[in-house]
Amino acid sequence: MTGASAVTAETTDRVVLPPRFAHRHLLSMRDLSAVDITTILDVANAFWTLGEQPVKKLASLRGKTVINLFFENSTRTRTSFEIAAKRMGADAVNISGSSSSTTKGETLLDTVRNLDAMHPEVVVVRHAFGGAAEMVAGKLSASVINAGDGQHEHPTQALLDAATIRRHKGRIAGLSVAIVGDIVHSRVARSNAIGLATMGAEVRLCAPHTLIPRGIEQIGGAVTQQHVSVVHKLEDALDGADVIMMLRVQNERTGGEAPRFPNTREFSRTYGLSERTLAMAKPDAIVLHPGPINRGVEMSPQVADGVQSLILEQVSWGVAVRMAVLHLLTGGSPTEIS
Ligand code: CP
Repeated sequence: MTGASAVTAETTDRVVLPPRFAHRHLLSMRDLSAVDITTILDVANAFWTLGEQPVKKLASLRGKTVINLFFENSTRTRTSFEIAAKRMGADAVNISGSSSSTTKGETLLDTVRNLDAMHPEVVVVRHAFGGAAEMVAGKLSASVINAGDGQHEHPTQALLDAATIRRHKGRIAGLSVAIVGDIVHSRVARSNAIGLATMGAEVRLCAPHTLIPRGIEQIGGAVTQQHVSVVHKLEDALDGADVIMMLRVQNERTGGEAPRFPNTREFSRTYGLSERTLAMAKPDAIVLHPGPINRGVEMSPQVADGVQSLILEQVSWGVAVRMAVLHLLTGGSPTEIS
């Protein structure tokens, strides 16, 4: 499905939930409309309260199997998918690339076909190759969730970021969101640009010219063209921002190419978020980071641990949002959570 449409501030909070979620897979934020995103966030709200209960267990996925297939390292995404599946009563199986038979020469497609033969309901895939999740989704009878494919997309990260923003700002439409750092290598930036624009936020992507791909404003078609802009000065990104999302420099994706900025200290001084630069944003701006943080590079420890930082709350939303996605993709009703 393509052609996501933006909503206005007036319509965002008055969406009527559809009787069923119309998607089999979650591969890209491009596939989600504003109503789809709102549905996921509303269902995540219902699951959020479960995390605060002494017994965090439901039975809605009892008898179902969720396979987490991770070919790249992960702390937050893999753990939260596993916790989400287990809290809903599913059997969760974790496979890492290094422990799979791909190390013996088996292809990704053969691997997932073999896993599909064990009849899981959901396969969660993280892979260094952009397009991996989409490729395997076309071959499986299970639902496929993209848990990060190269520098392409990370839709559940964008959804948990949207949930965090909505919880603290009461809305997404009309907010000014600055996304700062290594945009060129960031699947988080891409998914957030599309998702936040679809929800009607104004997104400013900020990086030096060498860390921002030409034409990124077009990534989601008309909706990002309308709502996403590129700036190269930190003060232009932060001026009037309601939300600041900082990104790590992903040295693991440079493939040994020449450095894209002179040195880390200079990058940090020019694009890092410190108490001094945070003051350029609105006084009630919230600070997000998908993790892992490189403290002292893109963000000072004082900001990371400061009162405006919601970085650990993002992690908590990761569980609730992934529960919502599992619930909806396995046929759960948007209005009945059990
Ligand atoms: N945000 C995120 O994807 O973190 P992990 O790499 O630890 O899963």
